[in-house]
Amino acid sequence: MAASWLKLVALAVLVVSAVARNIPRAGACTSLNRRKSWNALTRAEKTEYIRAERCLMNHAPVAGNVADARNLWDELHHLHIGQGQYVHYVGHFLPWHRYLVRAHEVLLQTLCNYNGAQPYWDELTDYEAGPIGRSSVFDAQFGFGGNGVGRNRCINNGPFRGHTLHIRAGEANADYCISRRFNQTAWAWASRQNIDECFAERKYTDAWWCYNLYPHSAGHVAVGGVVSRDSETLALAGTLLVSITGSGHSLTGV
Ligand SMILES: *[C@@H]1O[C@H](CO)[C@@H](O)[C@H](O)[C@H]1NC(C)=O
Repeated sequence: MAASWLKLVALAVLVVSAVARNIPRAGACTSLNRRKSWNALTRAEKTEYIRAERCLMNHAPVAGNVADARNLWDELHHLHIGQGQYVHYVGHFLPWHRYLVRAHEVLLQTLCNYNGAQPYWDELTDYEAGPIGRSSVFDAQFGFGGNGVGRNRCINNGPFRGHTLHIRAGEANADYCISRRFNQTAWAWASRQNIDECFAERKYTDAWWCYNLYPHSAGHVAVGGVVSRDSETLALAGTLLVSITGSGHSLTGV
């Protein structure tokens, strides 16, 4: 246990110093890191983001001390799993995830030469536009691929088809696929009525819980598969939508 905490601390320090290096000194800011909805990106910007994400997913481990991690993605995944039970259902749910998304963004920019900012998934717009499967984030060419298929519900199209995850929550690490099982019923949690209710909350404690309950849960349960199974919920960071999911944690955290 102590050893695994040390590993987490080591990785956190590493990520923090990467972030710190990238933060301009006061007065030295020359351009904004402007985050946009996936829907608002050009095809070239989407392609560039996917390139950088694939680079990060396949990048050699950086911390080098997470058992079973074959790449940097596994290390980030481990970070989310390891701290998972302390950073969900508590008041720092939002700032912790906001920070993780920022760290991930800096890693894309510093290790994979990504010049854009972290995009986010505009759940509300996509919810109001039609079934979840039509969301641009699930496009097979300019997105993260679509629904899972077959018994294991592995995704079988898109740029992350065939990607193997290695870190699991609550059970022995093992190789497994990115799986999804769209659920339109749960997608309704992303509705405008629910978001308005969250925005109308007067207290922070009520607001973060509302975000957690509605738009955040919609992102997990409506996508299904690896991001919604109990044992894997904390494995969220291992799925592709993370980056973006990190922003599914978006409306809230970022
Ligand atoms: C979809 O999600 C709802 C809400 O969690 C759940 O009650 C229902 O069983 C799910 N449907 C399927 C087919 O899994």
